[in-house]
Formats: sequence, C-alpha cells, structure tokens
Amino acid sequence: MTAARHIANIALIGFMGTGKSTVGRLVAEQLKFDLLDTDALIEERSGKKITEIFAKNGEAAFRELESQLVAELAKRTRVVISTGGGLPTNPANLASLKPHSLVVCLWAAPENIFARVREQSHRPLLHDSDPLGRIRSLLAAREKFYKQADVLLNSDLRSAREVAAQVISQFRLATRVRK
Ligand code: S3P
Repeated sequence: MTAARHIANIALIGFMGTGKSTVGRLVAEQLKFDLLDTDALIEERSGKKITEIFAKNGEAAFRELESQLVAELAKRTRVVISTGGGLPTNPANLASLKPHSLVVCLWAAPENIFARVREQSHRPLLHDSDPLGRIRSLLAAREKFYKQADVLLNSDLRSAREVAAQVISQFRLATRVRK
C-alpha cells in the first residue's frame, strides 16, 4: 500500500552533474526553505570526504549513511533536499522521501554530464579510464530508478535558473489547495 503524502519538501534526485546542488540552492533561496545536501551532511558528520569514505569503508558503508540520513527527514518541512546521484538506487530511500517530498529528477545527456564533471575529481565512481563510458552505463542502469520521480526535468537546454523556476512551479501545483 502507498503511504499518504503530505508534501512539504522538495527532493532533487538525478545523476551526478545534472545541477542538483545549484538548482537546489536557487529553489531554497526563492522559497525561503532550508537547503540540505545529503553528500555535504554525510561529509560533515563523518569528518571525511566522500572519496575517503569510499576508499576506506567502501561504497556499501556510504550507502548505509545515505539511508540513515534519509530516514531522519520524515519530520522536516520546508526543506530542499539535494541528494547524491546514487541515492534513489535503493528503493527504500525513495519510499521514505515520497510521503513528505515532491521528488524531482534532473536529467541530462551523458555528453553534457561528462562536460560538466570532467574537471572535477571528488566523485569516486567517475575515477575511471573511460569516464564517459562509465557515465553511460551507470545512467542506463539507474534510469529505471530516476524515472520513479514525480517530475522529470531535462536540464540540457535550460539554465539552472530556468530549471529552478520549473521546480518551483511544479511544487506549487503539487501543494495547491484543490477546491
Ligand atoms: C554518487 C554521486 C555523488 C556522491 C557519491 C556517489 C553516485 O553525488 O553521492 O560520489 O553514486 O552517483 P552527486 O550526484 O552530488 O555528485
């Protein structure tokens, strides 16, 4: 049975480099919501960078920290939750977010994702001899999870501001009082 939904937050999901952090910041500013970035909070709490957690404790340990954090969010309201790219691959995480959050997925083509992340080194899953190939295969494997979002927004042809405006408009539609 699906839990009743009382949408009070926005959760941004989507692959690395699709703009979740930037869009999340803009949406939170405009709605005067708090901003919670799951990766940043995990780093803050553990005192370790994500690359270090992956290297020392393994991906499974990181996923466990992600799930613990998601489970804590049920009582929050007026928060924009910007999530790590792999978070929706555990169905329990989306099931836990949906009762209180409008789940919006940002989508982008692999080539555009690659162009955005190629100069960055903080994502252990892209430390690969063929990062574009890795992006393509991970994206294909994760597509079915991302498509479970309430709203799917392509960020290829839109600026972060435009994507943020779309997110806000979808949130207003989802939370309007129906007569
Ligand atoms: C990951 C995405 C990263 C971070 C970690 C794993 C993933 O977050 O959570 O490196 O599995 O896609 P961003 O999507 O914010 O880069």
